[in-house]
Formats: sequence, structure tokens, C-alpha cells
Amino acid sequence: MAGQVGCGGGVSWSSLLARCLALCCLLMGACVAPAARANRPSRSHVDMNFGRGGRRGGTSRGGGGSGGSSPSSSSEPRPCDFENERLYRAYQVIQKFRKTVTCDPMDISSSWQGTDLCGYKGFYCARPPKIQDRTVASVDLNGYMLQSTSLQGFVNGLPDLALFHANSNNFGGAVPDLSRLPYFYELDLSNNKLAPSTFPTDVLRLRNATFIDIRFNSFYGELPGEVFCSFPKIQAIFVNNNQFSGSLPDNIGDSPVNYLSLANNNFTGEIPKSIARTANTLFEVLFLNNKLSGCLPYELGLLAKATVIDAGTNQLTGPIPASFACLRKVEQLNLASNLLYGEVPDALCKLAFSWSGRLKNLTLSDNYFTSLGSCCWDLIKLGKLNVDRNCIPWAPNQRSHEECAYFFHRTNTAACPVNTYVPCRPKYYAGTGETAGNAWYTAAAEDNYYRTYSSLQP
Ligand SMILES: *[C@@H]1O[C@H](CO)[C@@H](O)[C@H](O)[C@H]1NC(C)=O
Ligand SMILES: *[C@@H]1O[C@H](CO)[C@@H](O)[C@H](O)[C@H]1NC(C)=O
Ligand SMILES: *[C@@H]1O[C@H](CO)[C@@H](O)[C@H](O)[C@H]1NC(C)=O
Repeated sequence: MAGQVGCGGGVSWSSLLARCLALCCLLMGACVAPAARANRPSRSHVDMNFGRGGRRGGTSRGGGGSGGSSPSSSSEPRPCDFENERLYRAYQVIQKFRKTVTCDPMDISSSWQGTDLCGYKGFYCARPPKIQDRTVASVDLNGYMLQSTSLQGFVNGLPDLALFHANSNNFGGAVPDLSRLPYFYELDLSNNKLAPSTFPTDVLRLRNATFIDIRFNSFYGELPGEVFCSFPKIQAIFVNNNQFSGSLPDNIGDSPVNYLSLANNNFTGEIPKSIARTANTLFEVLFLNNKLSGCLPYELGLLAKATVIDAGTNQLTGPIPASFACLRKVEQLNLASNLLYGEVPDALCKLAFSWSGRLKNLTLSDNYFTSLGSCCWDLIKLGKLNVDRNCIPWAPNQRSHEECAYFFHRTNTAACPVNTYVPCRPKYYAGTGETAGNAWYTAAAEDNYYRTYSSLQP
């Protein structure tokens, strides 16, 4: 009947199943492969060290030797065939998981056999702190497109695990509770098929986490405030491309996070003023493409360490606060497609000149700005400022007079304070010392790799 078209007749049930699986992999592989490939490098650029003597993947391959035993798959290895008991127990967990893998288009799991676990594709060994035995310390399945309905019993069944990276697979089910793994600190479940759910609260118990990446899944509901106070060592939080909604937690500023991506969700409400408390730690932040509203906060201008601030495609309104002139490190500043108005401050545009800042790209298109500081005109010529589709007389590609009039008719421009206080001292060209600094700025500018922006690819 219908099934026989794909699978052929007169064959045993098991070979039938095998053929169906092969077909499923073929079809799936064909459609997910490009996305997976595009992603792989993005994660590896976030350099984080296993500060406690463990290692990132790759270092223990082939090292140590395992007694040379590599039994054929027909004979079940015995506990004494393994380098140590931890590896034997990990072996049992991996074999159990292997049986749940229903799709493996790159034939990764065929290497998950025999006693040399440290040579299995995707598994890496290291010695945990104060422990003599090598054990499975890291699992990196990024881009392998494996399919399994659950990670339960697998990730949480490997007690010495420090890292689990599974970008671009088809893992389903819930996020396992990893809080009993004492060494665990990096979790990447991005671009999977995890069951739609609210934020996985078990993740909040990973006190030692430095990296939490659950982007490109189907999480919904509010982002719990604990995300910003549960991880004292956190470096990166990527929750972009989910369906989170509601307002951003007020305590966002409690987190020491360096790279924060909230992009492409459904967040509403204001950008919390507590963001100012991240002034010494936040390097990149993406609010891009949500439904954030209210006045563009003065506090964003206090992010003295930020190189990327992207609040584009929201419903933010008001003028650009004068505090933005203090964003001395900012390279990419995107406020496009909002409801901003007023004058683009001259002091902000000056940040594009090396004696003042590092600004490379100021995108303000699709707003309602009405005038530009004098330096801003130069930036347009240099291709560093885009003010298309605003209400600026004499600038190219502006909105129609009617469109602008309509906006100002229905907008209460008194609702947002015009804050002209600049909370930093102006920086003037100061001779020799500064020149040396400039050379370094230029060199740094060559390296235009932005971590949060690469999180926007699956
Ligand atoms: C965090 O790390 C410390 C050691 O640095 C350890 O004692 C503690 O159990 C870890 N906590 C969790 C929740 O893994
Ligand atoms: C975003 O929220 C609005 C209502 O607040 C809802 O209609 C819409 O479906 C949501 N979109 C997504 C992608 O969740
Ligand atoms: C500048 O930033 C905008 C908004 O993020 C982006 O669309 C554009 O490609 C950037 N331009 C350059 C030259 O990097």
C-alpha cells in the first residue's frame, strides 16, 4: 500500500524500518544542512576557558591510550575493558542514548562504539579538578543534525560534564535538569526542536554557568527575572529567535553578562533603566526586533564598554538622549525603525571620528528625526550614517511632508524628557598619547566580528 511505495515489499520489519529512517534522514538532511553549516563557527568564537583544569574539546583525542581494545560491535565490552570506571558508566549512558537517535544523516553515532569513548565523534575527555581519571568532560554535537525525542538521561547522566553544545540538531523534549553536575558551565541547545515551553527553570539552577544559549527554539512566556541574578559568572545569554513576550525584567542590570541577545522575540514595555548597572560589563546587547516601547532611555548612553547596541525595529520613541555622546566604545549603533524624533545630537556623530570614539555604523533610518548635528552630515557622506526615511529637510530619501505632519500630530512630544545632561566629559584631541591610541583603535576596527550579531544566524 502507501508504505510500500517508499519502502519496497517483501522485506523484514527491521530492514523496512532502516530504509524509512534512511529516507527520513535524506529528506531532512537536504533541508536543514545549509543552516547547520552556517552556524558552526559562530559558537566557537566565544572563547571561554575551563578555569578549573578541564579543557575544551579536542585536546584529549588519541591521548592516553585505552589499552588498544576496539572490540567489534558484536561483543559487549566488560567494565574492566575501560580505562576507568567513570568511562564505563559514561559508556552505558551513551549507548542508551545512541539507541534513541532516530536520524543521523552524517553517520556520527557509528563512531560511538567500543571502549575508547574519548575517540567518539563529539565526545571529549579531560580530568575533572582533583580527580585522576579521565572522563567525558565535553560533548559537542554542533551541526550534526541528530534526531532524538529526548535528552533526558543522557546529558544529565554524564556526571562530569562541563560543556554540552548541540546547535542545529533535532533534539526534542524538555531541557534536562543539569544542576547536579558539579562542573557544568556551558549550555548550547540552540536551533533544536525542544518542546515548546516557558523558560526552562531548571537552567536557572546552573549557578556556575558562563554560557546559556537557547536561541532558535520555541520558548514562550516571560523571561524570568532570575535569568539576570542566578548566574554570577555568566558571559553570554542568547535567547533570541524564540517567542518570549511580556516586559523585560527590571533587574536586567543585575547580570554581569557581556553578550546579551534578546532579539527577534515579542518583548513589550520599556528598556529597564537598571541597564545602567551593566556599564562596566556589557559589551554587546541586541534588543532588535521586539515590541519595546517608551522613551529611549538615557541609561543606554551609560554603557561605556558597549561596542554593539542594537534596539532597531521596536516602538521606542523620544529624542536621542545627550548621554549617547558617552558611548565611547560603540561601533555599531542601530536605532532604525522606531518612533524616534528630534535632532540627532552632534556629539553622537562625533563618536565616528577617532579622536572621540569608534563609531562605524550609525543606523537611524525609518524614524522621525527632524534635524542633524553638523558633524552628522559628514557621516552621511562617509557612509557611516543612514538617516533614510526620516523628516530631515535637505537630506535624501525622506518621508513625505504629510507622513511627518501626521506623526507629529498624533505624538505627544512632551512625553519624553529632553535630557541634555552629558554624564561624561567631552574628549578633545590631546596630542601624542591619543595618537598612539588611535592606531590601536584602527587596528581593532579591522576585526569586525560581533558575537551577538552572529547569534542571529541559526
Ligand atoms: C559551582 O562550582 C563550585 C566550585 O567552584 C561547586 O562547589 C558547586 O557545586 C557548583 N555549583 C553547581 C550548581 O554546579
Ligand atoms: C506577539 O504578541 C502579539 C500580541 O501581544 C500576538 O498577537 C502575536 O501573535 C505574538 N507574536 C509571536 C510571534 O508570538
Ligand atoms: C549598519 O547597521 C545596519 C543595522 O544593523 C545594517 O543593516 C547594515 O548592514 C550595517 N552597515 C554596514 C556597512 O555594516
